[in-house]
Amino acid sequence: MFEQISRVPPDLILGLIAAYKADPNPNKVDLGVGVYQTEEGETPVLACVKEAEAALHRAETSKAYLGPRGVVGFNEAISNLLLGSDHPALEAGRMVTVQAPGGTGALRVAGEVVKYVRPESTIWVPNPTWPNHNALFPAAGFRLESYRYRDSATGELDFAGMLEDLGRLGPNDVVIMHACCHNPAGIDLTPEQWSQVVDLGVERQFLPLVDMAYQGFGVDLDTDATLIRLLADRAPEFIVTSSCSKNFGLYRERCGAISMVLPNQEKALDAESIINSITRGIYSMPPTHGPGIVDIILRSEELTARWHEELAAMRDRINGQRSKLVQKLKEAGVARDFSFIERQFGMFSLLGISPDEVARLRDEYSIYLVGDTRFNVAGLRDNNLDYFVSSVAEVMA
Ligand code: LMR
Repeated sequence: MFEQISRVPPDLILGLIAAYKADPNPNKVDLGVGVYQTEEGETPVLACVKEAEAALHRAETSKAYLGPRGVVGFNEAISNLLLGSDHPALEAGRMVTVQAPGGTGALRVAGEVVKYVRPESTIWVPNPTWPNHNALFPAAGFRLESYRYRDSATGELDFAGMLEDLGRLGPNDVVIMHACCHNPAGIDLTPEQWSQVVDLGVERQFLPLVDMAYQGFGVDLDTDATLIRLLADRAPEFIVTSSCSKNFGLYRERCGAISMVLPNQEKALDAESIINSITRGIYSMPPTHGPGIVDIILRSEELTARWHEELAAMRDRINGQRSKLVQKLKEAGVARDFSFIERQFGMFSLLGISPDEVARLRDEYSIYLVGDTRFNVAGLRDNNLDYFVSSVAEVMA
């Protein structure tokens, strides 16, 4: 059977982890995979997570199965984080949340839900989007199309193009939207722009599928959920996939969730039963360690307050690096206007240089960016910023 196999090329983003590790250059800079780094280049376990994990170990008396819904308290807490605890959709029981193995696992389950309900759907992703969207949905059997999002000439949002493309869609279309901290572009819509998109979706009856991987990394936990709350106010149904990888730093624990909002509680419970039957056929039941930790944090006022502080510190450091980078590129005499970097949100921006220049940064300077020029702002530190800026200036000269 396996005589015919050959090597599959490494994933665009994950392949950079190995390439960076293997590079012996002491000045190497890792701006690849979306993992937060401190000023010391570390990705520490959050203090609130450490404490909750210790409490979990003390309290846990069994590893017996919890069932397909996993940690129910986590599911409720994620619904509250997404909608705000007093949203009428929660009171009405219109939202169900089921934990999933990371945001990626949640996206894959969402694909299967759409396939179960409407297999003839076309799935639309923004151009650009997270490369793994392009793998996940075709793996679930879907045709992918893209709608305009970033204007590559200006590096800004092409809102008119986006509205025009979405305005042509209908009930057989599913539209992936990045709730905040767009990956890879860092370009987010304003609340007014989201409001227009939500109204358009209701009018055209396409299904919004919101990817929320960075709640709290943009402006704050509530503002970052603007799209989701507007949808819950106005749209009859939509799906959200969320992740605790970044905002709780639980990357390797694979802690995420799929949430669905339906017109009423009956339909929401139907949706939950579909999710449970789908996941039974893939991984049976979700891992509970990460969700157990998040559940403990969000039940404790003290740990929640600490989490808010730690999350704000990560966000503020990234935003600080954004400002410093723009300033230093200007000071280095780089003619191109990079001020857009300061107006963007989250871990990533697209530098917008050429593929050759990205390759030179990697080969000659050991600076690792994703091929589409995406760089992880959190990988920039006071002790590598000057090196990064001078290297960019040199390859662009
Ligand atoms: C990223 O975009 O770098 C992260 O979301 C990690 C991943 O799985 O690609």
